Amino acid sequence: MVMKIPFFNSYKQMNEATQFHDDHVPEHIAIIMDGNGRWAKKRGLPRVAGHKEGISAVIKIVKAAVKCNVKVLTLYTFSTENWKRPKSEVDTILRLPKEFLHLYLPELISNNVRIEAIGDMENLPSHTQEAIQYAINRTRDNDGLVLNFALNYGSRHELLNAMKAMLKDMNEAKLSPDELDEQMVSRYLYTSNLPEPDLLIRTGGERRLSNFLLWQLAYTEFWFSDVFWPDFSEKEFMEALEDYRQRKRRYGGL
Ligand code: FPP
Repeated sequence: MVMKIPFFNSYKQMNEATQFHDDHVPEHIAIIMDGNGRWAKKRGLPRVAGHKEGISAVIKIVKAAVKCNVKVLTLYTFSTENWKRPKSEVDTILRLPKEFLHLYLPELISNNVRIEAIGDMENLPSHTQEAIQYAINRTRDNDGLVLNFALNYGSRHELLNAMKAMLKDMNEAKLSPDELDEQMVSRYLYTSNLPEPDLLIRTGGERRLSNFLLWQLAYTEFWFSDVFWPDFSEKEFMEALEDYRQRKRRYGGL
């Protein structure tokens, strides 16, 4: 049996060791983990090998996020568009949450990480739903890093569902459209209990949003890396944080 050394033995120890206590640490980081397929192709491996290797990068970045006192880490793990891929690849990706949690849940628990998920869970295979639900229940009382998996997530789908639910509720409550405001829209999104992302990281060289958190990213800072996700390490993560630290956010003001 391989002994796993927790990244910190306790939440207290984690906080003492935390290097960043200033306001310049993004509270919420969202990541588009791209480049798994190309990582594998470059090595003459099947695409799924890249997805599996992606798990190692996830735990490295979770550890780094805990160390830096990031509050929320949202990972784009499976999009509503990813169903278009070959069934064998879809099946592999949807088994990864279970594999990841099987390997790392005890370590995540001992580091006070809380697991959450956003997306249309009901249409995922039952083994994926069960693994995620189990982890959510087991970590419910933790108040450290929120590790939020976006699974079967698509922003337009989310917004459309929010609009439908909102219209229905407004009709029932006989509210006029003038009573609708931005806060109300936010309350109907999967992310209603989370702060908006401060920093978006996309790996793998592409520079697009791919239907990820379109509403929530309105004032987010973006950071792109050409590194394929399986090669993305604490070094690049710290570069992104350092770059963010230099930015001046104005939210449309001066
Ligand atoms: C995009 O790369 C990546 C995905 C669609 C899957 C993301 C999954 C992981 C990173 C594995 C970790 C998962 C968990 C649950 C810990 P791509 O296949 O589009 O890459 P390409 O652009 O090179 O083809």
